[in-house]
Amino acid sequence: MSEFNIAMMPGDGIGPEILSQAKRVVDRIAKLYKHTFHYKTVYIGGCSIDKFGEPLTEKTIKAVLSSDALLFSSVGGEKWDDLPQNKRPEAGLLGIRKAIEGYANLRPVKIFPTMKSFSTLKDDVINGIDMIIVRELVSGIYFGEPKGVVTLPNGIRKGFNTMSYKDYEIERIAKIAFDLAGNRKKKVVSVDKANVLDVSTLWREVVDEVHKNYQDIELTHMYVDNAAMQIVRNPSQFDVILAGNIFGDILSDEASMATGSLGMLPSAAIGGDVGMFEPVHGSAPDIAGLNIANPIAQILSSAMMFRYGLNLHKEADSIEKAVESTLNDGYRTRDIFKIGNKKVGTSQMGDAILERIECE
Ligand code: IPM
Ligand code: MN
Repeated sequence: MSEFNIAMMPGDGIGPEILSQAKRVVDRIAKLYKHTFHYKTVYIGGCSIDKFGEPLTEKTIKAVLSSDALLFSSVGGEKWDDLPQNKRPEAGLLGIRKAIEGYANLRPVKIFPTMKSFSTLKDDVINGIDMIIVRELVSGIYFGEPKGVVTLPNGIRKGFNTMSYKDYEIERIAKIAFDLAGNRKKKVVSVDKANVLDVSTLWREVVDEVHKNYQDIELTHMYVDNAAMQIVRNPSQFDVILAGNIFGDILSDEASMATGSLGMLPSAAIGGDVGMFEPVHGSAPDIAGLNIANPIAQILSSAMMFRYGLNLHKEADSIEKAVESTLNDGYRTRDIFKIGNKKVGTSQMGDAILERIECE
């Protein structure tokens, strides 16, 4: 029995709908396992722009930093697309990741057996997909300086960003990857572009240094273009993929497709004092408010919150098992529906999962 402060961020688009299903799940866990959770609603992204005129406020940062975990939905939408880069909803997302120093983005990619037909890859290729992408989240080209768009004296306009990593930033994320691999299949593939980029030369060097303390883990270095190819050629070769910010961003979208539904994949941003847990998918404004969005990625993100944020593993298992048996029983939102399934909306999917949550 424990007591925790949980910040909840409903966000934009389908965010509020899917978060409210996840909150029901978290409430059920509290009841079953006799925990007390104090919730605090915080606003980041478009909803914060509308309320406070900026995508992330100091007050929100404070509220999150004084919580034990942040359960985050998704941000963004056309409405805010014309704002300058640093005023957009996405700037709020990047800002909170940085503020909590959530440098390790864990993105598990696993295929539910009942969902195999949704993969765009052939059956024999997807068998056994079970990897986790460990993406560096608070540095690299997303945050590197200098950056900007300038007009040169000759009138030519130039846009630029800087991809940079400091040794300690590589070291801490590599440790997370090796530690995770130790509890899995003991294989790490570290992704870089060391045949071209200097920043990747350092990345490789530091990952090799950290690896010296993990002799039982098999380490392979792979160029990012090859990794992108291998993910569709033979995804089950991967256990842990370690990548910098932008390479991890791209590869995780690619890998998610192998599972057939982006609406199913959760993620965690950990390493700092407060962990943040969010679906990999976006805010899908086109289907917002219609009770058709798939809440599973959000609900599985709450499972990751229990596992990696609050160190409550049985609670996480309970949620993951309930999701699996809901899928096995044929409940499907529109995005994962096939003839013969039971078509349900967002809240009915929540009901079905709630009914299946049991104490471990
Ligand atoms: C993600 C998203 C974000 C990112 C965007 C919305 C800023 O694509 O979480 O993968 O690039 O990190
Ligand atoms: Mn992305």
